[in-house]
This record gives sequence, C-alpha cells and structure tokens, in this order.
Amino acid sequence: MDVLQELETRRAAARMGGGEKRIAAQHSKGKLTARERVELLLDDDSFEEFDMFVAHRCTDFGMEKDRPAGDGVVTGWGTINGRLVYVFSQDFTVMGGSVSETHGQKICKIMDMAVQNGAPIIGINDSGGARIQEGVASLAAYGEVFQRNITASGVVPQISLIMGPTAGGAVYSPAMTDFIFMVKDSSYMFVTGPDVVKTVTNEHVTAEELGGASTHTKKSSVADAAFENDVEALAEVRRLIDFLPANNRQKPPVRPFFDNVSRVEESLDTLVPDNPNMPYDMKELIMKLADEGDFYEIQEEFAKNILTGFIRLEGSTVGVVANQPMVLAGCLDIDASRKAARFVRFCDAFEIPLLTLVDVPGFLPGTSQEYAGVIKHGAKLLFAYGEATVPKVTVITRKAYGGAYVVMASKHLNGDFNYAWPTSEIAVMGAKGATEIIHRGDLDDPEKIAQHTQDYEDRFANPFVAAEKGVIDEVIMPQSTRKRVCRAFASLRGKQVHTPWKKHDNIPL
Ligand code: HXC
Repeated sequence: MDVLQELETRRAAARMGGGEKRIAAQHSKGKLTARERVELLLDDDSFEEFDMFVAHRCTDFGMEKDRPAGDGVVTGWGTINGRLVYVFSQDFTVMGGSVSETHGQKICKIMDMAVQNGAPIIGINDSGGARIQEGVASLAAYGEVFQRNITASGVVPQISLIMGPTAGGAVYSPAMTDFIFMVKDSSYMFVTGPDVVKTVTNEHVTAEELGGASTHTKKSSVADAAFENDVEALAEVRRLIDFLPANNRQKPPVRPFFDNVSRVEESLDTLVPDNPNMPYDMKELIMKLADEGDFYEIQEEFAKNILTGFIRLEGSTVGVVANQPMVLAGCLDIDASRKAARFVRFCDAFEIPLLTLVDVPGFLPGTSQEYAGVIKHGAKLLFAYGEATVPKVTVITRKAYGGAYVVMASKHLNGDFNYAWPTSEIAVMGAKGATEIIHRGDLDDPEKIAQHTQDYEDRFANPFVAAEKGVIDEVIMPQSTRKRVCRAFASLRGKQVHTPWKKHDNIPL
C-alpha cells in the first residue's frame, strides 16, 4: 500500500512542475502550462506520458539539491482525432524549461519512437535555452535533438509550436521542422537577443520586434502562422494534423465529405475579368474547388503573390499552389519562389498530390531581385516541381508567360493533367512587350505597333496554340473545374514513377 501511495505522491509532485507560484506566473503572462497545452492538443484522456520521474544528473553549482521530476519537459504520445502523434512540451516553470542532458534525452526518446512507429512529432517550445549549469552537456543534448530532426525530416511530419522564448542555437531545432506556429505577444525566436544586437550593431530593438510572431510570419518567413493565444494555436495544429499523413509510407487520410464532386460553379465563368490587367482573387477559385470550401493556408502573411495550403478533394488532402493576381500581379519573385518551393517539397515528401493554379505574368524584374539571387531562388521552385513525383494537376486561368509558365507545374515538368481555361494566354511574354522586341523597327509608327500587338494577341492570347501542341491536355470550362480536377486526381491514385538512382539531389539552396 505504501508503494502505491508513493507512486501517487510522486506523480502529484511531478504534475506540479515548478510549483504553484511559477504556474501562476506562467498564467499571468497569458501562457498555459506544459501539461495544459498537451491536454488541449490531444484527444481527451489519450495522453500517455513517458519519463515522468526523470531527473537531471548535474552536481555542479549545488544542482544536486534541486532535482525536479520530469526535468522541465513533458513527453509522451496520444491521439489527435484518433490518430497517433508524439509530443514534447517544455515546462517553463521548471528551471525555465531549460535543456539539460536528461531533458534532451527525453525529447530524443520520443523522436526515435515517432520515427520507428511512423507518427508525427509535435514539439511545444517554451525554454530559456541551454541549462547554463550543465555547460557542454546541454549543448550536446541540443545536438542530439538536431540530428534527430534531420533524420526524421521527410519520414514523419514535424511541427513546432513556439509558445515562449526560443533563443540562440535552440532556434535551429524548430527551424528544421516542417511547420512553425507562433503565439502573438508571448513567443519569440532569435539567434542573438536584443542586448547583443545593441552591442554589436547599435540597433535598438525589442524582443518582439526582433523575433516575435509578426516578424517571423511577415518579414522573415521563419514561421508559418501566428495565433492570438495558446488555445487557438493548439486547435490549429489539430486541424493541420487532420490534413497530413502519419508518415512518408502512408497516404494522407481520407475523410468523409459532404460536398458534390461534380459541383458546377457558374460564377467561375466570370471570375477572370475581361481586362487582362485587372486583378481578381485567386482564393475565390481555391475555395470554390475545395470540399466544403475548407482551405488551410500556409504562410498566409508572407509573399502574398503566391498562395500555398491544403484543401481536400473527395475527402483526400491536396496541396495547392496558386499565383495571386491581387498582389504584384501574381509575379514570381524570390520570396514567392522560396515559399512555394518548400511547400511543394513537403507535399512531395509526404505523398500529397499537388494542384497548381496559374496566372503568372513572369518573374519580377529589378536589381533588388537579381542582386539577391532570383536566379537561384526561382530555380528552387522549378527544381521542386520537376523532382516531385506525386500526382500533379495544373489549371491555367489566365497568364502563363515565359519561364514562369514552365516553372508552374507545366507539362514539361511532368505535369500529369495540364488544363487551361478559355481565358488563358500562354506565350513567351505579353503582347505589348513581344511586339516592341520583334517589331523594333516600327516603334515610331503607333498604328503599325497597334496592329502587330493585335496580331500577337490574336495568335497567343488563348490556350489553343498550346493545346494544338499537346502541352495543354484540355481546355476546360471554368464552371466545371472542380469536377475535372477531382476526376484527374482520382485517375492518378495509382501513379508510380521510377527515377534514376541517386544519393540525393542537389537542389539550388
Ligand atoms: C538554467 C534557467 C535558464 C537557463 C532560465 N532559467 N533560463 N536556468 N538555464 N538557460 C531559470 C531562471 O533561473 C529562473 O529560475 C527560471 O528559469 C525563470 O527564469 P526568469 O529569468 O525568472 O524568467 P523570465 O524573466 O521570464 O525570463 C526568461 C528568459 C531568461 C528571458 C528566458 O530566463 C533568460 O534570459 N534566461 C537565460 C537565457 C540564455 O541565455 N540561455 C542560454 C542561451 S544559449 P527560478 O528558480 O528563479 O524560477 C543557448 C544555446 C543553445 O540556448 C545551443 C544549442 C546548440
């Protein structure tokens, strides 16, 4: 009986983390505790904890007198809507959630199990970084976690929630995961903090300005989304997990759907304005194609000239990449290329088919783009599409010009179904630019130029030249796009591609 009692006593002590005062301090910052977060993330009563009694082994600086059970991180597994996930949640109330040798070992244990059992890893980060009293043992612990992030990459989905401080080298574990979610006003990430920045560069900046959720979702693109509070962020991770396969050997989950596969959307026939220079909202098309209009957008606040995210078609997850004519006329630039390339590679790694919606006038011109390496960055997206072997369905709605036409999952990059709306214009460039180059001699005769422009438009401002060459498989009615796209993906469910052996590719980084 005493032993049973001891178990209960020890459990109760471990569950209290750093004690009532520190829990109250955590709550006063608008943050939940490590355990409260796990409870909200997982299905009710599904959490099974590991290593609840693990304590650190440090004997320096009097540390042997303070050995809290669990060592500042709660680890284990549970389910999200019935599907297995592994989770670690750093407990800021225990030594600031700092990472000791044993804290790191706890994280590594569940990462190893996640890879072996093929289930996602969700890391909740809230930590003062390396446990200062442990010195290099703490750095070693981080290194072990980093190595596992790399090994797990492309094997199981890895998701990071940033729910407090994440500074110094500690940022590199989340940085190597597939998605990073932050909480507004209570989380930050930076390699060097405001004080060091001030000393080295004389810049005065707050932690929030330097590495808060707004900075990382709008400026740096380090984070994929920012949420108002812990509760919302955790709920959104649950929603994301529903779209993802458990590992790279499984297909994404197929969910019951309550939408008509052949739903006709007559409004799409007038989505593209008559004036080719007028913008329209590509999100409207995505919503109208998706089952129940459900679109899970990734990096909504960054490079808004391209849209990326997940939808379902006939209940199955599909990754969407779409040019957005509302921003920069839908041009590809460095940021858009990087954003979309990473998304395409995630989808390909996890067997998520790709739907590409194209309205792209080309790459953004300018010295800032060229000096910053748009050649290499644009090549990332080209490379990502070309290497992707998942089913690829492309719909051109309007412009598909030049190199950007090829990049955007064209037939030439092994697109499986390449559809075009009747409003498509597939050409090397717009009619005006083309005329000014090929009829340079007539530049001082506006009438002739107008005629040449008209001739070029008549020839190329339509999908039929491309369709005659077979690089467009079919010209489709906008209103029937959902049906056509659903049928295309359904026909590709057994797709298999054999590529030559290589160790790995050398994507332009
Ligand atoms: C040990 C730590 C700690 C750490 C915080 N604590 N960080 N203990 N190692 N790294 C402890 C504090 O002593 C305190 O203990 C409790 O956690 C809460 O910390 P506070 O400072 O009271 O909290 P707050 O005011 O909210 O400030 C949070 C903080 C600050 C900004 C994170 O604690 C801080 O600056 N910590 C040090 C951060 C740091 O320099 N870490 C090393 C970075 S280098 P009590 O007992 O009072 O509750 C690094 C490299 C990783 O991480 C490399 C990987 C390769």
